[in-house]
Amino acid sequence: MDLHRYVTVELQSLLKSSHRVTPELVYQEFEPYFGLNVDPESIFRELEHLESRGFISMENDNLSLTDEGRRIAHETMISFSFHEGYEISVRSETDRTFLHREHGELGIVGLTDELQRDFLVEALGRCQQPILDLGCGDGSLTNILSTRSGRALAGIDISQDALDLASSRFPEIAFFRHSMDELPDYGREVGSFLAVDSLYFVQSLEKTILDMAEIVKRKKSRSTEGFGMVMVFSTYGMEGMNTELLKPWNNPLGKILRTIFPEKALEYTDFTCSELDVWSGKLDLLNQLKDEYYRENTAYLFWDRSNEVSLMAKVCQNKLNSRYGYCVRLAEC
Ligand SMILES: C[S@@+](CC[C@H](N)C(=O)[O-])C[C@H]1O[C@@H](n2cnc3c(N)ncnc32)[C@H](O)[C@@H]1O
Repeated sequence: MDLHRYVTVELQSLLKSSHRVTPELVYQEFEPYFGLNVDPESIFRELEHLESRGFISMENDNLSLTDEGRRIAHETMISFSFHEGYEISVRSETDRTFLHREHGELGIVGLTDELQRDFLVEALGRCQQPILDLGCGDGSLTNILSTRSGRALAGIDISQDALDLASSRFPEIAFFRHSMDELPDYGREVGSFLAVDSLYFVQSLEKTILDMAEIVKRKKSRSTEGFGMVMVFSTYGMEGMNTELLKPWNNPLGKILRTIFPEKALEYTDFTCSELDVWSGKLDLLNQLKDEYYRENTAYLFWDRSNEVSLMAKVCQNKLNSRYGYCVRLAEC
């Protein structure tokens, strides 16, 4: 076991959910978090080690992350959730219940609910093939959409851990490691693009959209009916934000689409209302299962999910969010 990764993840999670985090608390919570029994000395040694590397600071027994520590902890958390976190999830009965109830009929995959998946299936049915799913993650959505639409989909993602999962679960779909920042020269192969909840992570939205348009244009064949790009994009704001930014053509993606393409090239569908249901549903379900996660010593899964979910549910309750599906017509790419 890589104690360094476990302690970093637990520490970050505790700091998000509690005002005062002490070395003693990290030790006390370790077993309920991960279901692993480790002696106190090794936990305290690990905390000292993190402090000596400048990742945490410890004042009067109060732990906090430094700026560098926050960056490292964030990276560790992402890689952990695809790797050790996934293994914990696989052994957890409670998480199976959560995922089953969440993903069951009318459930949620990633952040898309049934309504959005219907929209995507319909839009993909009008895309030229093959369709490249940008930021496909563990491939769950790629698989559902490919099965339901009957279209040929392949996926790229930057995370090898996510791709390993995707390839082992859905061997009939091709998944490649690649960044959206430098789209591969797939000019001959890719007919159109899908990007669901992934464009937030690109370095330059404008460059990625222009690259997509360029690739689609090269493939554009006899038929120019239908779409060259299908995207789903949310905006989440803070108290006091300018709510104009929530409008479809004012958020970062909508604005860029409007500057690159003529108006007649673009269509959007508003999914803002279903966002609140998605996040509140996840939160209710998690809270119902909290005690079971603790009983089972997999509290990591509860906190990993609920830190994000409770923040997002609050944002949506305050109407500081928007979510749109965008389609770009092939003819205008
Ligand atoms: C929120 S997930 C969305 C997953 C999936 N599309 C869905 O809706 O369920 C975002 C994905 O984008 C990936 N990602 C982040 N930056 C990326 C990049 N520069 N290039 C490719 N993938 C990236 C992440 O690894 C993650 O799997």
